[in-house]
Amino acid sequence: MIENKLVFRPPIHSDLPAIATLLTAAGFDNDSADRLGTAFDGLKTFSVVALRANRLAGVLLATFNGWHVFASHLAVEPSARGGGIGKLMITALIRQAATAGAKGLIVDSRLSAVGFFQKLDFRLPGAVFLIRDIQLDR
Ligand SMILES: CC(C)(COP(=O)(O)OP(=O)(O)OC[C@H]1O[C@@H](n2cnc3c(N)ncnc32)[C@H](O)[C@@H]1OP(=O)(O)O)[C@@H](O)C(=O)NCCC(=O)NCCS
Repeated sequence: MIENKLVFRPPIHSDLPAIATLLTAAGFDNDSADRLGTAFDGLKTFSVVALRANRLAGVLLATFNGWHVFASHLAVEPSARGGGIGKLMITALIRQAATAGAKGLIVDSRLSAVGFFQKLDFRLPGAVFLIRDIQLDR
């Protein structure tokens, strides 16, 4: 059915409010709208949105540093989960990363989603993920 057809494409600026709403509902920061606006130029090439009937059904944020594509902030609209949209967004990103000559795709995953990525052939590389928190001046 045409109205159920999924479309995958890079985000455009007018998608940002819906992306922010979806990310916040999925438990990401509730200042997502501001952060997306600031980072949009760096995100727009490799990120993926999934649309059904022109409505946002999923988002996957990603960037490329010339070697690896880095993905984070993956969310599928709750009523659409389990229907393959997450897997299809990863597949679309892998295709785009291959076209760009990337060596691999690195994901920053919640513990609860590690099984999802392992189903898609991601491996644990034996490296650790370190973070230096930034204290904002007040
Ligand atoms: C994790 C998430 C993106 C998965 O998207 P989805 O569209 O529901 O996943 P898919 O339907 O494409 O699932 C693909 C496969 O992974 C499995 N899977 C999905 N979520 C899983 C999870 N959390 N753990 C283990 N396996 C999972 C599915 O059962 C399916 O397996 P199958 O191919 O054998 O049928 C979605 O559940 C979500 O938005 N969660 C909240 C936000 C989140 O946790 N994001 C990821 C961390 S950044």
